[in-house]
Amino acid sequence: KNRGELRIHESLDELMTDLADYVAELSEASVKERGVFAIALSGGSLIGLMGKLCEAPYNKTVDWSKWYIFWADERVVAKNHAESNYKLAKDGLLSKVPIVPSHVHSINDSVSAEEAAEDYEFVIRQFVKTRVVSVSEISDCPKFDLILLGLGPDGHIASLFPNHSALNEREEWVTFITDSPKPPPERITFTMPVINSASNVAVVVTGDSKAESVHLAIDDLGPDCPLIPARMVQPAMGKLVWFLDKLAASKLEES
Ligand code: 6PG
Repeated sequence: KNRGELRIHESLDELMTDLADYVAELSEASVKERGVFAIALSGGSLIGLMGKLCEAPYNKTVDWSKWYIFWADERVVAKNHAESNYKLAKDGLLSKVPIVPSHVHSINDSVSAEEAAEDYEFVIRQFVKTRVVSVSEISDCPKFDLILLGLGPDGHIASLFPNHSALNEREEWVTFITDSPKPPPERITFTMPVINSASNVAVVVTGDSKAESVHLAIDDLGPDCPLIPARMVQPAMGKLVWFLDKLAASKLEES
């Protein structure tokens, strides 16, 4: 198992600076290579931890006009609802930098979870056709330049929860659930093959409530290790980076 790169930080401030540098560097590299940057966000504490991107120097140096923004997972609520991941990102990040509004691709919030998942996959297919989103050489899945994930204390990433059938979805790019253990219950989510087809996947985790799931996701625990969703994040051709504060990293074994 490839543990990925571990970036363990003494303080949240340090982690936030490193995360902003990382995203800015990937954006620059992708714009240079492909002319665009296709990034997928998650919800939760992640957006706050990306906050430095709205400040100098990044607010000026990043080529925001080339960003195309998607969601790795979204709660099926109205766009202006307090629980919407779109609203969280808009208020915390997207409204503070010169993103092109038509490059922001949130879910259809006026249909069922099932339809929202179908619609979102259709949207992504259009962007794959025009190569705004690349295509994986090995899986024919979309290959996002960067997928950003948070981690739940139970080991979930995006809206892929432990022991949920959505975790084993291999055909769809986007699936839905109506029984999320973390509220709200209705969500859509990228499937594991899409996450593992990305060029870069970053998992951003802070706080001691996540220490055990970080340990279970990363350490080599032998054949009896519980297969928590985060442990299945193994980009086939891409690069995996963990951004951890020292509390989240406190149960990791030495490697
Ligand atoms: C969501 C998420 C989810 C989140 C984790 C971590 O919609 O809730 O996308 O996967 O990233 O639950 O959330 P916290 O960082 O807030 O603990």
